[in-house]
Amino acid sequence: MHRFREVILVLLIPLLLVSFVLFVMPSERAPNDSVLSTNRKLLANYVLRADLSSNRYVVIFDAGSSGSRVHGFRFDQNLDLVYVGKEIQLFEQVWPGLSSYADNPKEAADSLVPLLEDAEEFVPKDMHQVTPVKVGATAGLRLLEGDASDRILQAVRDLLETSNFMTNDDWVTVLDGSQEGSYLWMAINYLLTNLGKDYSETVGVVDLGGGSVQMAYAISEADAANAPELPEGEDPYVKELSIKGTKYYLYVHSYLNYGLSAARAQILGVAKDVENPCILAGYNGVYTYGGIDYKVSAPSSGSSMDKCREQILIALKGSNPTCPYKNCTFGGVWNGGGGDGQENLYVGSYFYDRAGQVGFINESDRVAASRPIDFQVAAERACQTTLEDAKSIYPGVDAADLPYLCMDLVYEHTLLVDGFGLQPLKDITLVKQIEYQGYLVEAAWPLGSAIEAMSLDNGIKPVSSLGNRIEAVSQAAI
Ligand SMILES: *[C@@H]1O[C@H](CO)[C@@H](O)[C@H](O)[C@H]1NC(C)=O
Ligand SMILES: *[C@@H]1O[C@H](CO)[C@@H](O)[C@H](O)[C@H]1NC(C)=O
Ligand SMILES: *[C@@H]1O[C@H](CO)[C@@H](O)[C@H](O)[C@H]1NC(C)=O
Repeated sequence: MHRFREVILVLLIPLLLVSFVLFVMPSERAPNDSVLSTNRKLLANYVLRADLSSNRYVVIFDAGSSGSRVHGFRFDQNLDLVYVGKEIQLFEQVWPGLSSYADNPKEAADSLVPLLEDAEEFVPKDMHQVTPVKVGATAGLRLLEGDASDRILQAVRDLLETSNFMTNDDWVTVLDGSQEGSYLWMAINYLLTNLGKDYSETVGVVDLGGGSVQMAYAISEADAANAPELPEGEDPYVKELSIKGTKYYLYVHSYLNYGLSAARAQILGVAKDVENPCILAGYNGVYTYGGIDYKVSAPSSGSSMDKCREQILIALKGSNPTCPYKNCTFGGVWNGGGGDGQENLYVGSYFYDRAGQVGFINESDRVAASRPIDFQVAAERACQTTLEDAKSIYPGVDAADLPYLCMDLVYEHTLLVDGFGLQPLKDITLVKQIEYQGYLVEAAWPLGSAIEAMSLDNGIKPVSSLGNRIEAVSQAAI
C-alpha cells in the first residue's frame, strides 16, 4: 500500500502541475475531456487543503443516555487547540437522549438538528467539506432492544448526509467501553500536554460511569509484547496509537456492569435479603437497573461500613474469581503489569462527583489531589448516618442517591484498593476539567475522538509541508 502510494505520488505531481497550468488558462482554450474535470476537482481540493495548514475543524456528537451534546474543536498544524472567538470549543447540549426516541428513529435524528446547526455556524462555511463529523453513542443506545439502536444510527447518518460536513457510515457508531477509555486517556494526556512525550511521562485514567468502569494507561513495548491474548472477538488488552509522531501501547479495559449504577444492582443481588448493610437507616424502597427491580431496605441496626465492604468484595469477585495471568485486577482480568504510565492516575466521573458532594474535595477545584483512603474515611462517616440526618449533612447529594451514599463510597474505595490494587495512601488526582490555555476543558472522551480523527491516516492527517499536502490530495483521490 505504501509503495503504491509513492507511485501514485510520482504520477500525480506532474499531473497536478500540468492541470494547474490548464486551470489558470482561459477556459475556451481548455480541452474538453473528463480527465481535466477530475483534475479540477482535485485541484479545488488541494487549494482547500492548503488552507488546512492553519485551520482544521472537527465536530463530535456525544449521544449519551440523558442527552445529546455537540463538541466542535479547531486545531492548528501542531495539533494544538485554537480559540474560535472567546471559546476554545463549541459545546452545546439537548435533552433527552437519542434512546428516548426508541420507536421513532427520525425523531431521534431530528433532535440533533439544533446541534448540527450550531456546528455549521461554528465551522466556517468554506471548511464544511473538509471537516469530519463523528457521532459516538454511549450507554443509552447500548441498552436498547432489537434493532432500535441500528435504526436510530441510520437516521442520524441520513441526517448528516444533508450537511456539507465530511461523514462516513463508520463514523456514526455505538462506542464500546474500551474506546471510551482510550479516548479519555488521549483527552486527558492531551490537555496535560503529555502527548508526544515518552509513555512514562503520561498519566493513567480511571473513569467510573453508570454502567461500566474503564482503566487505561500506557505500557512499555516489552510489556505490550507480553500481553495475554484474548479469544477472537474480544477486545484486546493493548491498543496501539500513533499521536504527534509517538507510538503508544495503551492498556485499556472496560469492566461492564461495574459502573456505579450497575454495581449497586450487583451488590443488592449478593444477599437475596431485602435488608442490605450498605443502605442508610430509615430507607425502604426499590432500586431498578437494567429492567430489574430490587427491593431495598436498611437493617434495623442501620448501615455498617465493614459489613457493606464484605458484600462488595463478593460482588467484585464476580463469576470469575480466578486469575489466569501473573497479575489480575478482579474478575479474572489482566492488570496490565503496572509501570510508569500508571504511576500518576487521573480518576474521574463518579469518583470526582461523590468526593465533591461529600466534601473531601472542593468542587471549585476541577482537579484535586486525593488518596483512596479518603473514600474510606468518608464512607465511615456516611455509613454511620441515618437517611434523615444525611439530608442535612450532605445537601449536595441528590435525594435519589442518598440512601446509597454509604454503598457508593465503600464501593469506590473497595474498587480502587481491592479491585485495582492501589495502595490506600497512594496519591491520585480526581478530575473534572483541565485548564488548557486558560480555558477549562471537560476531561471527557469527545476530545480524544477529535484527536484521533486528526491523527489517523485517513487523508486528513497534519498538513505541514508541501509534500504532505500533495499526499493528502492523492489520498483524497484514491
Ligand atoms: C464537452 O463534451 C461533451 C460530450 O463530448 C459535450 O456534451 C459538452 O457540451 C462539451 N462541453 C463543452 C464545454 O464544450
Ligand atoms: C505482580 O505479582 C507479583 C507477584 O505476585 C508482585 O510482586 C508484583 O508487584 C505484581 N505487579 C503488579 C504490577 O501488580
Ligand atoms: C472552595 O474553594 C473556593 C475557591 O478557592 C473558596 O472560595 C471556598 O471557600 C472553598 N470552599 C470550601 C468549602 O473550602
